[in-house]
Amino acid sequence: MRKKFIAGNWKMFKGPEGTSEFISRFVDELLISKNVTKAIDEKKLEIAIFPPSISITRAIELKTNAPILIGAQNMYWQENGAFTGEISASMLKEVGCTHIIIGHSERRNIFLETNDIINKKLTAAVNAGLVSVLCVGELLDDRKSANTFSVIKKQLLDALKGINPQIISDKIIIAYEPVWAIGTGITANNIDAQEVCSYIRNLISEAFGEKIANKLIVLYGGSVKPNNTASFLIENDIDGVLVGGASLEIDSFMNIIKAAL
Ligand code: 13P
Repeated sequence: MRKKFIAGNWKMFKGPEGTSEFISRFVDELLISKNVTKAIDEKKLEIAIFPPSISITRAIELKTNAPILIGAQNMYWQENGAFTGEISASMLKEVGCTHIIIGHSERRNIFLETNDIINKKLTAAVNAGLVSVLCVGELLDDRKSANTFSVIKKQLLDALKGINPQIISDKIIIAYEPVWAIGTGITANNIDAQEVCSYIRNLISEAFGEKIANKLIVLYGGSVKPNNTASFLIENDIDGVLVGGASLEIDSFMNIIKAAL
């Protein structure tokens, strides 16, 4: 059985102060939820939070030994050098990050990241030993013109070019985030989300083999809330959720986690 993976992408919310407030109370809430800590101990569940890069160190220091994984939302693919404003995978490792989001639709659409850039970042992240949450998802126009599957296929296969297949299921998590469902309050229904997540798993199976595909963690993201989480997680090919807005409040994020049990 694949573990459940529940992740909060804070986007550009919560500086170090907001992070301190959240993490200290969230750790308390987590540790008193015996079902949650039991599921984590038994390796049936993982919880990850992706704060803005300036708040990562604060989150890591404050969570101490609590079973929360901390990741970054972005990085550059070079190790170091004259790249003003950027941070590298090895710097993230140095402060204790274990995870990274790569290819989020906001990076693709606002910051014009191409599949080629995403491939370079994914390669660097994998080489540094970070676990990558690789995001793929179609625009509303793609869906309307029945291009969802071709867009997903290109995003996925281009991103994974040259990656050692043996590490794919251990070091890469795929998040299906339809762009039209992000921050809009419109969710893909669980049937549509399952259809694409199953397509993703089949693609991985065709490209890299069934064993790798069966171990792969696939997430859904886009307007996930406490009251719709369970509907996604009962689907065969959805192993978790990548949550934006609803991960910013402790109660809603805790209720999403509890819905995964
Ligand atoms: P929302 O949950 O706010 O729609 O954001 C989803 C997302 O982009 C997570 O990466």
